[in-house]
Amino acid sequence: MQKYPHVQERIQREIDDVIGSSRCPSVQDRQNLPYTDAVIHEIQRTMDLAPTSLPHKMMRDTEFKGYCIPKDTMVLPLLSSVLSGPKLWKNPHTFDPGNFLAEDGSFKKADAFLPFGLGKRVCPGEGLARMALFLFFTSLLQRFTFSSTQPLEEIDISPECSSFGKVPRSYHCYATLRS
Ligand code: HEM
Repeated sequence: MQKYPHVQERIQREIDDVIGSSRCPSVQDRQNLPYTDAVIHEIQRTMDLAPTSLPHKMMRDTEFKGYCIPKDTMVLPLLSSVLSGPKLWKNPHTFDPGNFLAEDGSFKKADAFLPFGLGKRVCPGEGLARMALFLFFTSLLQRFTFSSTQPLEEIDISPECSSFGKVPRSYHCYATLRS
């Protein structure tokens, strides 16, 4: 939000219109906040928190797209390859909430949005994580405006590697109480 003040302003306008300032955001508000929802999805897409998901192991010999993957082979699903696949996103390598917005401004789901993995072993914390992200993000932006202590061109929003995951870079910021 420090890097893109115009994105922050648009979210705050949406929050002001839909929620106002006299009550806290609730999960039911998400469907009425398409732009905010799109930004949270785009943050998760570009953050790519778990680029190699978790290791999986083949339970039996498996034929996949003409390849034979023998039983017991360790498989690392590269979630990064879907989260930034050039054929899957309008703007794969730029921060663009438009990746999750339809022409009429409504929220647009994307099949390639898989930060929690897919299938039987999909992250069981997905619902909790998505709820927490939405409530924390909207509550903070309802009350505060975040601004940078340094020139915006010096802020790098690409994540940095930490062990087998990725994390946001650390920056100082001003948090100004909104009136
Ligand atoms: C933004 C937050 C989170 C992200 C991006 C995330 C992502 C993931 C991914 C990619 C996997 C591997 C899925 C697979 O193997 O296909 C995973 C597994 C898992 N996650 Fe999360 N996760 C998040 C939050 C949480 C939370 C809040 C919890 C618990 C409260 C949680 C608990 C787990 C557990 C227990 C597994 C292992 C599931 C299994 O192997 O069957 N995660 N997560």
